[in-house]
Amino acid sequence: MGLFDFLTYDIAIDLGTANTLIIHNDKVVVDAPSIVALDRTTGAFLAVGETAMQMHGKTHDNIRTIRPLKDGVIADFVASEHMIRELIKSIPGLTGRLFAPSLRMVICIPSGITEVEKRAVKDSAEHANAKEVYLIHEPMAAAIGIGVDVLEPKGNMIIDIGGGTTEIAVLALGGIVCDESIKVAGDVFTNDIVYYMRTQHNLSIGERMAEQIKIQIGSAIESLPDGPEDMAVQGRDLLSGKPKSITISYREVARALDKSILRIEDSVMKALANTPPELSADIYNSGIYMAGGGSLLRGLDQRISMKTDLPVYVAEDPLRAVVRGTGIALKNIEKYKTLLMR
Ligand SMILES: Nc1ncnc2c1ncn2[C@@H]1O[C@H](COP(=O)(O)OP(=O)(O)O)[C@@H](O)[C@H]1O
Ligand SMILES: [Mg+2]
Repeated sequence: MGLFDFLTYDIAIDLGTANTLIIHNDKVVVDAPSIVALDRTTGAFLAVGETAMQMHGKTHDNIRTIRPLKDGVIADFVASEHMIRELIKSIPGLTGRLFAPSLRMVICIPSGITEVEKRAVKDSAEHANAKEVYLIHEPMAAAIGIGVDVLEPKGNMIIDIGGGTTEIAVLALGGIVCDESIKVAGDVFTNDIVYYMRTQHNLSIGERMAEQIKIQIGSAIESLPDGPEDMAVQGRDLLSGKPKSITISYREVARALDKSILRIEDSVMKALANTPPELSADIYNSGIYMAGGGSLLRGLDQRISMKTDLPVYVAEDPLRAVVRGTGIALKNIEKYKTLLMR
């Protein structure tokens, strides 16, 4: 420990397409939707995180909400920088100190992002007073968070289903051996539900209602042993224009999501087919690990397991596996040096 260590502050950030999480001292201190609200006329930022989420879908002409990382790429540099800065500022106990501490951080990024976007993330972090910034790829952080020893000469397969992207990666010796990334994940599931309600029930529903359906009764298979109860869904009748409520079952949701889940299954099969044989042998023995909010969809692990004939394990608290792994990498920077990018 150095003399001036009290002036540095270590944080780990999971910059997700749907949620941004920050860990400091082993504790999750920020867990907020990755969203920014701004004034359309002046361009001024109005809110980030939860407050901005409340406005989402309920905005009028003057307010716009953006999800700067929506599809796993940085759609809006200025907005994402603002969001990163504001979320860092919202860490309890960080602001209002006598000396603003300089930050050391590890940031987890979607593996699809380009060099230019990586640079932009680093710049944003540096503008937020970061002295040392390391980047880590999402599947790697997820694996560490799940408790997999990624440095071992042993293959492991991770599927991370987030908001914007599903990343399927085979890891060994601290590196990514093969990597499939598709833009089919939680957001697409939500849109599938919107589309299904529109075409099957003539009911127009909002994104937030659709997400609620997905979380409350969403399923990847049509016959669950202990399926959730039917759910009442409110929206606007497309024929009469009146507000309307109908009841739907998890089976319908499974039908609505089927095509997208098939696409995820295909990508998993593709990743398995591209895996070198020695690593295939390892995966045969250890199975597949799943993380990310999308892996909470009922029966999804079972479907992937049936498709691949492999055991599938969902991380404990899958929404936080990535930030936990990022936090572990931060705490053991020397150990994980080879897989962190400066
Ligand atoms: N119980 C659940 N069932 C299905 N999907 C869920 C559940 N909880 C969260 N999600 C979905 O998970 C996604 C967010 O996952 P997350 O891992 O935070 O994404 P990202 O890393 O891209 O920010 C969202 O699309 C959200 O709707
Ligand atoms: Mg994620």
